[in-house]
Order: sequence, then structure tokens, then C-alpha cells
Amino acid sequence: MAFIDLQAGSPKRGAGLLPTGLLKNRLAHCISIHATYGMTFNNRTALVTGAGRGIGKAIAGELAKHGVTVICVSKTAANCSAVAAAIEAAGGKARALPVDVADGAAVAKTAADLLAEFGAIDILVNNAGITRDGLLFRMSEDDWNAVLTTNLTSCYHWTKHLGRAMTQKRWGRIVNIASVVGLTGNAGQANYSAAKAGLIGFSKSIAKEFARRNVTCNVVAPGFIKTDMTAGLGEEVTKAALQFIPLQRFGEPADVAHMTAFLCSEEAGYITGQVFTVDGGMVM
Ligand SMILES: NC(=O)c1ccc[n+]([C@@H]2O[C@H](COP(=O)([O-])OP(=O)(O)OC[C@H]3O[C@@H](n4cnc5c(N)ncnc54)[C@H](OP(=O)(O)O)[C@@H]3O)[C@@H](O)[C@H]2O)c1
Repeated sequence: MAFIDLQAGSPKRGAGLLPTGLLKNRLAHCISIHATYGMTFNNRTALVTGAGRGIGKAIAGELAKHGVTVICVSKTAANCSAVAAAIEAAGGKARALPVDVADGAAVAKTAADLLAEFGAIDILVNNAGITRDGLLFRMSEDDWNAVLTTNLTSCYHWTKHLGRAMTQKRWGRIVNIASVVGLTGNAGQANYSAAKAGLIGFSKSIAKEFARRNVTCNVVAPGFIKTDMTAGLGEEVTKAALQFIPLQRFGEPADVAHMTAFLCSEEAGYITGQVFTVDGGMVM
């Protein structure tokens, strides 16, 4: 009979020498506990936009940790390439895909190429976003259009082009990254708030359209998260913002990534059309 020494590097210290059959039972028990409380992903493929930096990078990394093959989209080739390379170096599966999500024709072409290769993309995370802040009377039409196109119209294109294969496969997860200002509005962000509020309405409609085909669509609405997007806020604005955050700190990209990954997992299969704020309690 073969024995395995559980003393060295084993979670069950002091167990001594165990027959392999008993060891297998113990491992099976551990695995079933993991399956009960962890997140399950059955060999899925995900596309994450804005995966070159910040929140998108964290989401791509979190999904890859769970064995998901992640297609990392960003505008700049160097950024998505660096993220995909880091995932692969850590033993995950990733691909870099530089695409301007504001360019509908480029999104359509990319989606067609991906569907030809993968058959279906199981998980879509629309995360790419920009701000062009300013009070309304000073907001140019360019600033309005750039924010609406990048944050909202891009989701229309990706969802339209990747959604059909999900519905045909009878399995899919779509998570759209909005913002708490899509719920509350914010002076100086009429364009951004409109885009994020639009994303919420869009997601609820898609949730209703796709539900019969076992495809869910949810929204994650972050508050203040430490990324390049908030790095430029001055000390005064940061101090003022903290007054409205019960948890008294800005969030980390990982805080948003954990919620997003859960919504993409098997375990979230009965959740659709919902908005989840990840904001330290700002909006409640
Ligand atoms: N940070 C916050 O406090 C906060 C709060 C609420 C909501 N959000 C939302 O969370 C999402 C991620 O924000 P973040 O803070 O991580 O932003 P970030 O650090 O500025 O990163 C934005 C990412 O989006 C990509 N991107 C922007 N425009 C694109 C385009 N036209 N085509 C392709 N990719 C594009 C960027 O690509 P490159 O890397 O190539 O530049 C980058 O990878 C956004 O939708 C944002 O509105 C953020």
C-alpha cells in the first residue's frame, strides 16, 4: 500500500502517514468544500474591455485566476499586451487585443474574428470608460459624444455582436461597469452620468431580452476606486469625497473585480438585471 507524508506542506498538520485512498477522500472533501463556497467557472472564455489598466486589469486577473481564458482589450497595444503577458507568466490563459471600443466597425470585425475562432465568448465585461468633465455650459459636443460613445455605445456594439452566440449556447454572463454617478448624478459630469445611467437602462433591457436563453446581464457601479481615473483628483476633492464614504477610504480595483467575477460565475446564475454598488457605502 502506498503512503503519503501529510506532515510536509499539508493543510492537515499532524496527520502523519496516510494511505493514498484516505488521502484521496480527504482531498475530495476539500474540493467539495471549495466548490460549495468558491466560484465555479467551467472552462469559460471572457472578453474584458479596458483591461489595460485599473479596474479592467484587476477583473482580467481575477477571472484568469479562476481558469478563465481572458481576451484583454484596451486602446493601447502596450497596455493590454502587458496585462496578457502578466497573466500568462502567472500560469493563466490570456490574449491581448488592441481595439478602440468607440469604433463600431472595429468592434464588429473583432467580434466576428473571435466568434470564428472560439465559437462563443461566454463572458463579456464592458469596462472601458473615459471622463471629459465640465459644467454643462462649458461642455463641448465633442466631450459629450466622446464619453457617450466610449462608455455606452461601445456596450451596444459588443453586446450585439457577442450576445447572439451566448443566447445560442444557452449560457452567458454580461457585466457592465457603470458608476454610482449613474444613480445619483454629479455636477460637472452630465455626459458621464448620462452614459452610466444609460448603461443601467441598457443592462436591465438586455437582462429581460436574454433571460430566456440563460444569459444574465448585471451592472457593477463603483464609487471612488484608486486608478488613473481618480489619480488626478486634488487633495481637497479627495478629502471632500471621503466625507461621503462611510468606510472612509477609496476602494481598490480588486474590490470591483471580486464582485464582477462572482457575477460571471456559475453560482450567480439566478441573478440578472441588478445593479451592485461597490462604493464603501456611499450610496445606500
Ligand atoms: N476609478 C473609479 O473611481 C471609477 C468609479 C466609477 C466607475 N468607474 C468606471 O470603471 C471603468 C474602469 O475605470 P478605471 O478607473 O479602471 O479607468 P482607467 O484606469 O482610466 O482605465 C481605463 C481603461 O479603459 C480603456 N479605454 C478607454 N477608452 C478606450 C477605448 N476607446 N477603446 C478601448 N479601450 C479604452 C483604457 O485603455 P488604455 O489602457 O489603452 O488607455 C484603459 O485600459 C470605467 O468604465 C469607469 O468609468 C471607475
